[in-house]
Amino acid sequence: MIFRRRLPDVFYNGLSAVGALIAALAASAIFILFLLDLVLGQSTLYQGLVTYLVIPGFLSLGLLLILAGAWRERRRHARGESSRFPKEIRLDLTNPAERNAALAGIFIGTLFLIGTSIGTYKAYQVTESVKFCGTLCHQTMKPEYTAYQSSSHARVACVACHIGPGAGWFVKSKITGAYQVYAVLANKVPRPIETPIRNLRPARETCQECHWPEKFFGARRVVNAHYLPDENNTADPISLLVNIGGGSAGERSEGIHWHMIVANKVEYIARDRTRQDIAWVRTTDRAGKATEYNNVDNPLSPEEKAKAEVRVMDCMDCHNRPSHNYRSPNKTVNDALSLGRISASLPFIKREAVKALDQDYPDTPAALASIEKSLTDFYRTNYPDLLKTRPSDVAAAAAEVQRIYSHNFFPEMKVAWKGYPDNIGHEEFPGCFRCHGSSLASSDGKTIAKDCRSCHILLSQGTGKEGAFLSPAGFEFKHPVDVGGAEASGQCALCHKGGAELY
Ligand code: HEC
Ligand code: HEC
Ligand code: HEC
Ligand code: HEC
Ligand code: HEC
Ligand code: HEC
Repeated sequence: MIFRRRLPDVFYNGLSAVGALIAALAASAIFILFLLDLVLGQSTLYQGLVTYLVIPGFLSLGLLLILAGAWRERRRHARGESSRFPKEIRLDLTNPAERNAALAGIFIGTLFLIGTSIGTYKAYQVTESVKFCGTLCHQTMKPEYTAYQSSSHARVACVACHIGPGAGWFVKSKITGAYQVYAVLANKVPRPIETPIRNLRPARETCQECHWPEKFFGARRVVNAHYLPDENNTADPISLLVNIGGGSAGERSEGIHWHMIVANKVEYIARDRTRQDIAWVRTTDRAGKATEYNNVDNPLSPEEKAKAEVRVMDCMDCHNRPSHNYRSPNKTVNDALSLGRISASLPFIKREAVKALDQDYPDTPAALASIEKSLTDFYRTNYPDLLKTRPSDVAAAAAEVQRIYSHNFFPEMKVAWKGYPDNIGHEEFPGCFRCHGSSLASSDGKTIAKDCRSCHILLSQGTGKEGAFLSPAGFEFKHPVDVGGAEASGQCALCHKGGAELY
């Protein structure tokens, strides 16, 4: 066998040869890893960092070396020096020595290639892990990672929701993933990270890999802790039966997951980026009959409508915080009181704790210091005896409020509940009432139901003998303080914002 030169002479030099070797190895590693991904179908967010960023780096390095070698060789030729590479290589396979050398070369080359692939694949698995997603970008992903760890989905990999299975999304995610890595390195990540994510994959391909919408039925009992901001921190828990049925294609009036019946389609247009201000809705039922609802107070102009994005409602339009729920001061303090993590016998602790959390702090250390100081100062000024007799209760309350802060507030990333509406319910964010009980109406005057019993039945409210209710048939919500019947609209979020705004 004779190997003759086929490329211009300048490419035959040591440096270009090394470059070619690196480039060839990198190219085959990319190819092998890509095939592995397709076969295993484990497409994940940052594993592609390796395939699509690190190895291509080596590939470019190899190509650059080839060019550099050629350039150097050309200058040598110009100086009249001759090439140091043989003009042609002869390989005589009938000669045992040469044949063995060739076989050994192929064998070592193959081993090397397999070694590189296994090595990179290992590196790959590291990048696929939740830890990697959550901590690679350290400060950047800290809010999402922290909230995730205390969510129902703490054992579900980031990539199960953010990427899901399949080759198309895999490649797509690599491209955005590579940009994200660049954004972190170049410090270009927006603070706070924008929500919702624009190109999140449709829920049917992620959530529904685990949850089965047809199987939603019945009701779920929910008990929410509540405490008034008075001296006694009066407890006023609310218990409801939430109708979570509706997923099956049977009767339509079964419940909340009605929106999700496969044959039902709900589409909407939102005016704002966070999808809170919904201006148009269209439902299409199983028979294909469509109903359009327009905002009667402030309808979309035909131009606005023409260029708006029409979104098909899916799980994430309600469950938009399944894994990163930054909870409000009001909710977190209510829960801490009901769990006994904060002593409810400390006067005004509900109000003071919420106030301490609902402040603009420059960074976490400053916040933690200030929380402790403000709570201790409050009792020192107003209840000096109590601070002397129960110093540990005050200290424990302060420590719990600090813990709440560090799990739900991330001033470095400008992340807290306010910027991340939770669309389940309607107490602190408009949630369901973005459509239900809103100014949306069809041309024949039909509005979207706000009947309190279509979504839940209130089972009980309050504690103790006085003021406590319990009714299997459900009762009407009685607002804990007199607000002149304003609660009957269901638009609780007009007053309640989750912080200290009502005190
Ligand atoms: C159960 C599914 C699920 C899991 C698991 C999950 N996420 Fe999310 N993530 C979401 C949804 C849903 C959103 C909000 C999208 C929206 O509102 O459109 C989101 C939003 C985000 C955002 C945008 C900012 C924000 O808070 O809205 C980032 C960043 C993020 N996730 C990172 C992560 C990281 C890192 C992990 C793993 C530690 C992870 N996610 C795990 C479902 C999930
Ligand atoms: C890999 C499987 C998996 C995926 C993907 C997944 N979930 Fe879950 N989800 C679970 C499991 C398991 C639980 C039960 C956890 C528990 O009870 O501790 C759960 C619980 C829930 C709950 C009830 C608990 C709660 O916090 O109220 C909701 C709602 C939910 N998931 C919504 C979603 C949504 C929305 C998505 C898509 C963004 C999603 N899930 C994606 C596995 C998954
Ligand atoms: C994007 C708009 C929109 C949002 C947001 C929305 N819905 Fe609906 N919902 C509708 C429409 C439209 C209907 C159908 C109304 C009709 O045909 O009478 C509906 C119907 C329902 C029904 C009744 C099904 C039946 O006919 O018995 C329930 C229950 C329901 N929604 C619960 C909720 C809950 C709970 C939330 C919040 C977690 C919510 N919806 C958020 C638009 C919305
Ligand atoms: C119209 C709003 C809405 C949509 C759309 C929606 N859900 Fe829900 N879902 C709710 C509400 C409200 C609850 C009750 C939550 C509560 O009260 O804590 C709930 C409860 C759940 C639960 C807990 C059920 C239980 O037994 O405790 C799961 C799981 C869930 N949803 C998953 C999904 C998935 C998956 C999708 C998409 C196929 C989806 N949901 C679509 C509003 C919605
Ligand atoms: C479109 C569905 C829907 C309608 C209509 C609706 N609610 Fe709700 N409501 C919810 C959901 C979902 C929750 C959240 C349950 C949970 O905390 O998990 C909720 C929660 C509540 C709570 C408990 C709040 C808390 O934080 O403890 C009260 C009280 C309440 N609703 C009162 C009302 C009243 C009064 C009306 C009638 C004006 C009404 N709701 C109409 C869906 C609805
Ligand atoms: C007109 C304003 C207004 C409206 C509307 C309103 N509230 Fe309130 N609410 C208040 C005030 C003021 C307080 C007492 C101060 C406080 O606790 O924040 C309060 C207190 C509460 C409390 C006890 C404190 C807590 O959150 O733990 C609950 C529970 C509550 N409201 C639920 C609701 C619900 C549910 C709705 C909607 C159905 C609603 N409110 C509508 C003004 C309002």
